[in-house]
Amino acid sequence: MFAPTPSTDHATALHHSKTLRLATAALTLAGATLMAASPARAQGADIFKDADLALGQKLIAEHQCTQCHISKVGGDGSAMYKPMGKINTAGLLRGMVEMCNTTMNLGLFPEEVTAVAAVLNRDHYKFK
Ligand code: HEC
Repeated sequence: MFAPTPSTDHATALHHSKTLRLATAALTLAGATLMAASPARAQGADIFKDADLALGQKLIAEHQCTQCHISKVGGDGSAMYKPMGKINTAGLLRGMVEMCNTTMNLGLFPEEVTAVAAVLNRDHYKFK
């Protein structure tokens, strides 16, 4: 006579779903690696790819970044931005803006710091 064994079936089902989850995680990882390995986009560095450039421009105007830089270096202030200087990667550029944010008490959110740095990168630094 046939006797169902629910506990064994249950254990098997659990085992399968766990395997499936592991496989999904492995695929997700593989996808992330592929994306990281893909060539840099035309817009520039990866860390700026989701940046809100319009927001960045607005914040730069609001916080008078350029006015102060002009008062220091003259011209249009862009001489302040030195892509060949100490700030020579996208990560350092974002870090510099984060430092300004802290020292000048601007109270920018992380995504706003990213937006500001992304605009500087597009217009001046052009890091990949
Ligand atoms: C009160 C004046 C002042 C204001 C306002 C100001 N800056 Fe600056 N900024 C400076 C000075 C001075 C330096 C040069 C510091 C140095 O070389 O160590 C500088 C340097 C920088 C640099 C590094 C340039 C490089 O390539 O070495 C960045 C990036 C920068 N500022 C971004 C900003 C942003 C973004 C804002 C607005 C949110 C801002 N600054 C507002 C005075 C100012």
